[in-house]
Amino acid sequence: MLLDTLRRLSLRLTGVIAIAGAGLLSSFPLAAESAKTDWRTSHELLEYDWSHLAGAEVTAAGVRIEGLGRAIIPPADAADEPVTPNPPINLRGPILQVKGEFYLGAHLRFEGEPGGYVTFYGDLPLVQDEWRQDGKSVTLGVTDQQLIVEIQNGIGDYRRQEYPFSPAEETILELARVAGGFVIMADGDVMGDIDDPGIFSSGEIVFGAHADVGRAFVLTRLIAAPMMPGSRVSVIDPELPIVEPDPVGLRRLAESHAPHLAIGTAVSAIPLLSDASYARILAQNFNMLTPENAMKFQAIHPRPDRYAFADADAIVEFAERNNMAVHGHTLVWGEALPRWVTETAFTDAQVQRLLADHIATVVGRYKGRIASWDVINEPLQPFAPELRTGSPWYRAMGEDYIAFALREAHRADPAARLYINEFACEERNAKSDGLYRLARRLLERGVPLHGIGFQMHEDMTEEYQPVNAEAFRDNVQRFIDLGLEVRISEMDVNLHEEDSPERQVAQAEYYSSLLELAVDQPAFSAFSTWGFTDRYSSLQDWWEPEGFGNGLLFDPQMRPKPAYDALRQALVRHR
Ligand code: XIL
Repeated sequence: MLLDTLRRLSLRLTGVIAIAGAGLLSSFPLAAESAKTDWRTSHELLEYDWSHLAGAEVTAAGVRIEGLGRAIIPPADAADEPVTPNPPINLRGPILQVKGEFYLGAHLRFEGEPGGYVTFYGDLPLVQDEWRQDGKSVTLGVTDQQLIVEIQNGIGDYRRQEYPFSPAEETILELARVAGGFVIMADGDVMGDIDDPGIFSSGEIVFGAHADVGRAFVLTRLIAAPMMPGSRVSVIDPELPIVEPDPVGLRRLAESHAPHLAIGTAVSAIPLLSDASYARILAQNFNMLTPENAMKFQAIHPRPDRYAFADADAIVEFAERNNMAVHGHTLVWGEALPRWVTETAFTDAQVQRLLADHIATVVGRYKGRIASWDVINEPLQPFAPELRTGSPWYRAMGEDYIAFALREAHRADPAARLYINEFACEERNAKSDGLYRLARRLLERGVPLHGIGFQMHEDMTEEYQPVNAEAFRDNVQRFIDLGLEVRISEMDVNLHEEDSPERQVAQAEYYSSLLELAVDQPAFSAFSTWGFTDRYSSLQDWWEPEGFGNGLLFDPQMRPKPAYDALRQALVRHR
């Protein structure tokens, strides 16, 4: 009986019997054709925004999807592991709200060899640049010989089914969520059914589409429809929100009490575009933001001749709508490099060329819209004064890669303030001495370097005390004396296993001791935390789908922690 309904519905919606369609359509109206929506209304999702999906181009025939091969390389200590695919998600596109039993149908017209996928996300993944924690999703895909169904259930379980299948030139993939399970159809045939572990329990579906590298297809239709009386399907067309700053929130307090100082934080595209409370707290409290991962090389430049700007664009547009400045992060780093950069046998001259092109393209795209850039990230050995020598940049150019990159960035946007960003340089030590000498050498040569970012990722436990504010003040002064701006660029205070109300008070005092210092010293251009809520934090352990970090200003429920209030007080105290 259900299968019967499914077949009938599938036929109607896919137009296979379109000639007989007139009568059917009137009993099953497309949303666009009907002002009145009842339970039977179906929706053409391609009528919504697909122009902000990386790798996609909206054409007259539909949405053309090209393979970008965007992936997350494993961290240095697991370099032999395979990369993790990180396909684009249409975060600014339609959001489907579903209830009960429903149908989704995608039409893929391949250009050449088939190799295309459509993903329905019930919960979005948490994406970092070293790992990705999947949410809940169903992916339907086609290769030349197979239909592939992949299910992510949100607690790290992954299921993949493959069915022998020869796709038509225009292949129709369909998924029906019926009575506790999924029925999968391809080109009109039922291929199988699979238990549904609650993939769409959030009641909302976000879409993604991607192709294998070197392949492309046009998504010509993407249809959603309810299947039974009592089921419901509707579409939301999201917009980038505009939020009034909180008059007693951090940014307004800083604007009136310490106008030299931007109050910043790192931002991720997925929560920004999917979690209203995240966007709200962000715009209420901060007037500068740093894309946490969206502008890193592997995220923004996944293939030699392809960029993926969508996430970075969304962050920059959100900032503009909400009168926030953007600090770009990061152009030249030894990490987060796609395999095509690290594994191709380029000549030194080619590496230099590709770096120049990368900088010109990325900085050029946001010219006049990005206040400052981390041009050089973490150039020094982890705990020693010498430069790191392992990156393709150093190998091709030696120390000169630093001056070269700063000059190229300056050329691409002469108004942007250019930084070197480093960790473990907060106090006077061998490493910060090395950073100081590097900065001085660059300035002596007239290289456009304007500032230093001190990351300030701190640990605070019984055993481990974070860098003392006075020690930081003393060290930072010598950089200021060189004529440089300074910024606290990535502050978080990790309590590890020792989170408790008392430790949160200590954490709060520590945060405010650093902000006080920055408020007092006009050479500080920004005080920026590395995220603002423990709900989405790089301090979370990647293997813990249910876990959270504890180093930031808002808790996982988005409630302000003592640290938030302490920062407000530090601003208010300042005249
Ligand atoms: C971190 C991100 O927060 C994580 O999401 C990612 O997995 C790894 O990188 N120094 C930097 C940042 O300059 O880019 C790093 O960000 C944290 C350390």
